[in-house]
Amino acid sequence: MKVLITGGGGFIGYRLAQALLKRGTLADGEGKQASISQITLLDIAFPMQADPRLKCVTGDLTDKALLADLLGGDTGSVFHLASIVSGGAEADFDLGYKVNLDGTRALLETCRKQARPPRYVFASSVAAFGGDLPPVLDDSVTPNPQTSYGAQKVCCEYLTTDYSRKGFIDGRSLRLPTISVRAGKPNLAASSFASGIIREPLAGVVSPCPVNPETSVWLLSPGKVVDAFIHAHDLPSSAWGLNRVLNLPGNTSSVKQMVDALRKIAGDKVADRVEWKPDARIQGIVDSWPVRFTNERAHKLGFVADKDVETIIRDYITDQGIKV
Ligand SMILES: NC(=O)c1ccc[n+]([C@@H]2O[C@H](COP(=O)([O-])OP(=O)(O)OC[C@H]3O[C@@H](n4cnc5c(N)ncnc54)[C@H](O)[C@@H]3O)[C@@H](O)[C@H]2O)c1
Repeated sequence: MKVLITGGGGFIGYRLAQALLKRGTLADGEGKQASISQITLLDIAFPMQADPRLKCVTGDLTDKALLADLLGGDTGSVFHLASIVSGGAEADFDLGYKVNLDGTRALLETCRKQARPPRYVFASSVAAFGGDLPPVLDDSVTPNPQTSYGAQKVCCEYLTTDYSRKGFIDGRSLRLPTISVRAGKPNLAASSFASGIIREPLAGVVSPCPVNPETSVWLLSPGKVVDAFIHAHDLPSSAWGLNRVLNLPGNTSSVKQMVDALRKIAGDKVADRVEWKPDARIQGIVDSWPVRFTNERAHKLGFVADKDVETIIRDYITDQGIKV
């Protein structure tokens, strides 16, 4: 079985590729575990020294000829993670629509030309929600994005659902919480601080936090989001039915609670490296995102969140081999 991961040079995409290498199998069209014969990663850049078992292709999601070549008519699974992320899509309207919407449509059209409808997992976001929201969102709340990025994600959720309804793909869209702690370099996501305020202080570096301490975020760890992508892929089509979009579970935490947890784990010297540097643009974007969900459907389908924020930070420290 051939697998394509778009955005495979990115943070989650590459971790997903590593997890698939370790696992070796994925559910095929009939739901039986089939061995993965090839994992292709598409990205405009690969900052890491990639595992030689992965086929890393540097190229653009909007390149239709390249997509046709990469999928080759016999790709069984597609994980679509390539994206101009929130801050980037807000800063460059044209680029956001070109990659996030036109690129996704090009990918879906290529998926449609495969011998069998591929399983297709799309990385959407809680940025799908915005406007007047209830304090806690259940699964029935209608998306009303207040950023271009959120609007692009919602458009692509609809495309995923419609291409599935037509039988062109077997699609599933996951609305991701903010993923923290992100290892390596920050990206242009407006939520980048949610990792920066943990990662940088632990590395001995001062981290400016652009939002106020009472700002809450909806968090999930990199490990749990990779598990969620694989679980979403392997669930049978019947489990999704007519509703192909899912709010992933997470944990609600204020930025202050995150810094307090860091203080408890790593001490004052580390936690005091967080500096409060308000940025009205970032605060505005982050304030438009919801931070509490009931996640009934996700729980029923077997998706799980981390135990709490302290666990997320401890897992990052263990994962990175950091001494505290
Ligand atoms: N990390 C989070 O907190 C979070 C939250 C919600 C949703 N998401 C979504 O999850 C996905 C993965 O996020 P991530 O944190 O790994 O982000 P990331 O920025 O690390 O990865 C995205 C990748 O897409 C690539 N890309 C951008 N334009 C491209 C193009 N034209 N062609 C090919 N590749 C292109 C980038 O180079 C990057 O490597 C994204 O779709 C993002 O919107 C992430």
